[in-house]
Amino acid sequence: MKRYKVMKEGYLNFTKRPRRNRSSKVWRSLVQETDLCPHHFVAPFFVVDGKKKKEKIEAMPGVFRYSIDCLLKELESYISLNISSILLFCCIDKEKKDPLGSEATRRGNLLQRAISAIKKEYPDLLVMADIALDPFTSHGHDGLVEKGKILNDPTVEKLAKMSLLCAEAGVDIVAPSDMMDGRVGFIRKSLDKATFSHVGILSYSAKYASSFYGPFREALSSTPSFGDKKSYQMNVGNLKEALLEAALDEEEGADLLLVKPALTNLDIISKISAASFLPVGAYQVSGEYSSIMAAAQNGWIDEKKALYETLLCIKRAGASFIITYAAKEVAQMI
Ligand code: PBG
Repeated sequence: MKRYKVMKEGYLNFTKRPRRNRSSKVWRSLVQETDLCPHHFVAPFFVVDGKKKKEKIEAMPGVFRYSIDCLLKELESYISLNISSILLFCCIDKEKKDPLGSEATRRGNLLQRAISAIKKEYPDLLVMADIALDPFTSHGHDGLVEKGKILNDPTVEKLAKMSLLCAEAGVDIVAPSDMMDGRVGFIRKSLDKATFSHVGILSYSAKYASSFYGPFREALSSTPSFGDKKSYQMNVGNLKEALLEAALDEEEGADLLLVKPALTNLDIISKISAASFLPVGAYQVSGEYSSIMAAAQNGWIDEKKALYETLLCIKRAGASFIITYAAKEVAQMI
């Protein structure tokens, strides 16, 4: 013990000391390679019908279902934090769900109303809409079902209709999250034919059949009533397949690509962003978010530090933008 007190640092004469670049806060900041900015966040929102509603979602602490009026109010705080992109999901009543997901393509539905109300109040906000049938189908699958099988092409036609309704309402970007084959190209053609060539497509290119979507399905009451989503969402063991999906989406006309979940797929984010000229985003999904929140509520980890760290690492892996339920909380920190 005593010996160290009299010793001066550096007596072993190492020439290489990487710790020098970590020796003070300013020095560390100077050499920090990755940063988080609020304008790279996309905040997801769950919309419900009605007025003055702000409903807690048990499985997602700090996340709510908003009626349109309350959402408009809530958005003020996001905009003041420079979060200017949002992604909308609709949460519709059970009585409105049917096997065909008819509500998804009904003119005047909740999604259309939400988009137009938001764009009217905040024209500069970049509004994205999730395109898939699962919030609208009684069986909870993303597509139409026949004899227990998920149909591809009839689903794609329906998704294109859904996209057109969103475009009519003024959406900036449609985000197909269903993983059907050929949907990006078909949606692109349908939008272009209807003079919506300005509407972009964010394709969930590599969406894995993950166990981390549980809290989201609780939020939307959309847990599949039979089977799982493995015949359309990707096998978590595969990397080449993700590169193929990304290449096809790029070829079919996607403007932005997405990987999800994020934290279990950092390698996929990094490889797709190296392989594609398009911006690649990542979705920190409900299960990733809620695991952190649950551990924090138990006092096992520091919520803010853990959220910040995961988002920073997702960015470091190569994500240009991040969809995250923690957008506001982390934006307040940076
Ligand atoms: C719907 C959809 C899901 C998510 C985004 N879009 C659920 C699913 O595929 O079952 C999950 C998002 C999250 O968990 O936060 N197609």
